[in-house]
Amino acid sequence: IFGATGDLARKKLFPALYQLCMLGHFPRNLNIVGYGRSPVDIHAFVLKQCANIKEDQRLAKEEFVKNISFHAGGYSAPESYVALDQTIKEYEHGSPGNRLFFLSVPPTIFGDVVEQISSSCRALEPGFTRLMIEKPFGKDSATFDELNTKTQQFDESQLFRLDHYLGKEVILNIATLRWANQVFEPGWSKEYIECVQLTFKEDLGTGGRGGYFDGFGIIRDIIQNHLLQAFMWLAMEPPASMNAAEVTREKVRLLRRVKAPLLGGGRKRSVFLGQFAASADGDQKAYLDDETVPRGSRCPTFAALVLEVDNDRWRGVPFLFTAGKGMDERVCEVRVRYKPQPTGSMMGVTAQNELVMRVQPDESVYLLTTAKEPGITAEQVRKPVVMDMNFREQFEVDSPSTDAYVGDAYERMLLNAARGDQTLFVSAAELVEAWRIFTPLLHQIDAERPQPVLHPFGVLPAGYIEWTAQRGCTIRDG
Ligand code: BG6
Repeated sequence: IFGATGDLARKKLFPALYQLCMLGHFPRNLNIVGYGRSPVDIHAFVLKQCANIKEDQRLAKEEFVKNISFHAGGYSAPESYVALDQTIKEYEHGSPGNRLFFLSVPPTIFGDVVEQISSSCRALEPGFTRLMIEKPFGKDSATFDELNTKTQQFDESQLFRLDHYLGKEVILNIATLRWANQVFEPGWSKEYIECVQLTFKEDLGTGGRGGYFDGFGIIRDIIQNHLLQAFMWLAMEPPASMNAAEVTREKVRLLRRVKAPLLGGGRKRSVFLGQFAASADGDQKAYLDDETVPRGSRCPTFAALVLEVDNDRWRGVPFLFTAGKGMDERVCEVRVRYKPQPTGSMMGVTAQNELVMRVQPDESVYLLTTAKEPGITAEQVRKPVVMDMNFREQFEVDSPSTDAYVGDAYERMLLNAARGDQTLFVSAAELVEAWRIFTPLLHQIDAERPQPVLHPFGVLPAGYIEWTAQRGCTIRDG
């Protein structure tokens, strides 16, 4: 793990590795080597970085942490990587081992690490050498291209570009919902669907990460990657098979049909930008009060935009993307709104069906429908009814009688990378298209610096609801 002293390693990577060893997916004698600039006291390091592990009786935490070591060295110092290679060879006892490198490092040193791994730390054949790399995958088309050049010493099959949203259960379930059920796919098109809403909200600010965030903004942080990946699974054509190459082909085909949004002007403006101010009670500070944020920054912490797909299935259906920090709750969900049924008026009903996929918290899929309330009089009362599939209840998650288990996304990503399965990773071809869609807009925002709508922490920006309604996507509660 490059960047082993960091936040991601503490919050996600060490706990995920523990789970994988504990559940028997990874061998118990796995060697985990942390890499960082300065030497550490290994006991203090493990105590801090493994604090989030939830110990299970099947594997003592003490047993697990025995496998963790630390290698200190500069990120651009070749001799340090030669020494790292020696250390790993000792663990391998002279036979070829499999090496999975996780790069949790800032973009500025990314290139050095990749180059040094390539020249000094490749596994002996037939062991594998794989790189797991995290976003940001550049800031626009040109910087992605640069980054891509840096990884070209490795074959695409060795690169595992991670978008952890692809490891979340409800996103993974989209394919099953669409292609393993009879009811949804025949109506999955512009004939039946009015709009699709993809929403991400966080009840957190930037918490000292503002310096980094300010250079990116919410569109790069959430929409261009996490929400766009959910969109791809929702809107792509069924692939010929579920293997990585076929899935990528269909995702790229879809993205090619997406028009790049631009700021535009007036009522037709296709992008809505906001930034959180202090909360009304003063408990939550404004984005601009984060000391790491440049003064007077106009960086959007809230954004909404509509993407349109120019193909026969989706032409005319707005896909509304909304993402915001400094909101009232932490939630991520997808809502597929069906068109009104012409016979609805005869039944005295105006409500439209909506299929809701709640990615987090409390994973669930539910369908908003209308039903007749039981009663013996002729005046039939029709009421909204929810057909609900709550993952925890439906699958008896964590009950001793089932194997159902909702793991953290990083567990699945590490396991799939170790198995060499790229289906849930992001291909270079997808990123080329993803950046094609967003680069013109992002450049426009960077150059014009439009004033985002300031809104109190925890409250939607004024004008957002009206803005969505003008674009054919009314927001519904519940
Ligand atoms: C990261 C973003 O990719 O995803 C963060 O950089 C965000 O800003 C995080 O907080 C959200 O991930 P999750 O899994 O907590 O929804």
